[in-house]
Amino acid sequence: MTPIDEIKSRLDLVDIVAETVELRKSGRSLTGFCPFHSNTKTPSFVVFPETQTWRCFGACADGGDLFSYVMKREGSDFRETLENLASRAGVILEEATPQQKAKKVEQEQQADLLEAAADYFHNLFMHAPQAQYAREYVKRRGLSAETIRTYKIGFALNRWDACRTHFDTQGYSVKELLDGGLLTHNEDKGTTYDRFRNRLMIPIRDVNGRYVGFGARTLEPDGIPKYLNSPQTDLFDKSRLLYGLDLAKRHIREEGQAVIVEGYMDVISVWQGGFRNVVAQMGTALTPQQLQLLKRYTKKFVIALDADAAGIRATMRGLEVARQTLDRTAEFRFDPTGLVREEGRLEADIRVVMMPEGEDPDSIVSRDPAEWKTLIDQAKPVVEYVIGVMAAEADLNDPKAKTRVAEQVIPLIRDVENPIEREHYWQILARTLRVDVQALQRLQVAKKGGRVVAPAKPRPVVDGTKKRRQAPPPPPPPARILNSGRGRSAAVRKREENFLRECLDNPLLVRRVNRMLSEQNAPILNEGDFSSSEDQALFGLINHQQSLGRVAPIIEMWDSLDAILQQRIRNLQAQSGLASNQTERRVERLVLSVLDWRQEKVTRLNDELKQLIHHARIEGNQTLVTTYTKEQLTLVKQLQQIYRAKGAMSAVARRRSEEKI
Ligand code: CTP
Ligand code: MN
Repeated sequence: MTPIDEIKSRLDLVDIVAETVELRKSGRSLTGFCPFHSNTKTPSFVVFPETQTWRCFGACADGGDLFSYVMKREGSDFRETLENLASRAGVILEEATPQQKAKKVEQEQQADLLEAAADYFHNLFMHAPQAQYAREYVKRRGLSAETIRTYKIGFALNRWDACRTHFDTQGYSVKELLDGGLLTHNEDKGTTYDRFRNRLMIPIRDVNGRYVGFGARTLEPDGIPKYLNSPQTDLFDKSRLLYGLDLAKRHIREEGQAVIVEGYMDVISVWQGGFRNVVAQMGTALTPQQLQLLKRYTKKFVIALDADAAGIRATMRGLEVARQTLDRTAEFRFDPTGLVREEGRLEADIRVVMMPEGEDPDSIVSRDPAEWKTLIDQAKPVVEYVIGVMAAEADLNDPKAKTRVAEQVIPLIRDVENPIEREHYWQILARTLRVDVQALQRLQVAKKGGRVVAPAKPRPVVDGTKKRRQAPPPPPPPARILNSGRGRSAAVRKREENFLRECLDNPLLVRRVNRMLSEQNAPILNEGDFSSSEDQALFGLINHQQSLGRVAPIIEMWDSLDAILQQRIRNLQAQSGLASNQTERRVERLVLSVLDWRQEKVTRLNDELKQLIHHARIEGNQTLVTTYTKEQLTLVKQLQQIYRAKGAMSAVARRRSEEKI
């Protein structure tokens, strides 16, 4: 048994939920008001004791197990939750490896040094006569004394050895100072000296307020580079940091929205202007890890892009190229493809707002805070934003230009997970390009790797009211076995495990499965597809690797993996799985397996709902009956969609086997 199973067997989800939610028995389940969204009318939150799962049938439309519940309630990550629940359950977790422990100690020491350095620079800024110019500069930019304190703005002297001498006398070694990025070493000359000289020092803290690095702005009008950042270390990993999050997180949660800007000064200035839910991505593209971090606090993101339109247009032209070259040097930080995919994966709402030409959030807020608010309120969904920018660029009287726009946007639309939203974007695109939706949907779009997707067979138009459906008839519903919950869920987990086992060796399989799923109009894989929290975390990891285009087996990052994931992987690999090496068939088989387990889960949920409806009827609670019935309708639609996809899939499989002959 894994520690997670152990914890789950010792703790009861019902008890944990009941700590903060008043639950009432309703048949086999318990219901209450959802703790994750405000609503005092409909008790849309349900706990299923038998399966130890929960679900909100209201605004959240979310659900999961004990771990996901606690993660959501506490805003904590998987590791924190695991430690917390383990100690409650009296389960002893396997210790981190000695390597991991040593690394942790080293990181703590480095963070201490960087905090001391931040104090040192701040002190210089406040008092050193040499910092007079820096103080005037900051004043010119309108920062108040309180803001300077809050962000601990500092100054580095214009000398080669000031920082080095200061910390030398405090007993730090040159190695520590080099590792912390405070010193630089010049190989050719064999010299070691202060990295930051004559710069405004902006300390960077991680989400927990640990000091991890610096962004150092030149004080000369044309100084190069404008910002000199700390070198990349385990502690200072730009792809995992968001500037300002330590201060903003509370406000992000309160306001239910995170605003993401590009620069340090933007965060500082917008904060001073009274908007406190702001973070900066620090000159890199927004990464999945950054979004994951933010997701602990909200699922609503607004990205405020600077209007360096040239960069954005360049991005639009080469969406795929952009993905690989996202770097400061590329001068753009916007990746619609990645964002749309993340949006689905995180079940998030990502919007984009473009600053007026020549402005950034700093300049806008400094002029008029109300203008900032208006801009943020006008943010558009990513896909809509991309369609707008691209259409504005193209000559829509030229059919070739139209086709190019369509080819760029269609893959984005196909990545949208929610079918209703997807439909909405098809319509917007059709309207913008003044073409027929069906014509767009028939367009063959070349995917990466130069292959062309087989044209989707024109789907029979489903018109339930008049004609009989021509789609393959849905398979008969699974026979109802009493008390089947457990057996069924074991089968589902087996499928999930097989899937993960294969993807551990080859993360890119996820991409191929996703592609086939969206060709079948089915949602792409997301963490919610996996039953247990550790598998969700594992899938998250694999998914992240594949989003970076990594082919290497996950096992190659063994040392950096959380001990709990290591254990899970060992476990998975110890069990034998389906051994099929027919790669061509493999993706197909995996997709069918995903569809199968989704079908099981939806069917199970549907059964639960029937019970709930039954009880709500008995109690005469009409609002509840309506809520549940609506939900049931969605489930039925999902089931139909799954049946349809499975039907179409076996057709594909059939066709392929015929071709073989
Ligand atoms: N950046 C960087 N290296 C550079 C330039 C920029 O790392 N050479 C990053 C910084 O995190 C910076 C962000 O990209 O904050 C946005 O750049 P920019 O808009 O030029 O900076 P601002 O924060 O607006 O700074 P300022 O207003 O002081 O010009
Ligand atoms: Mn600026």
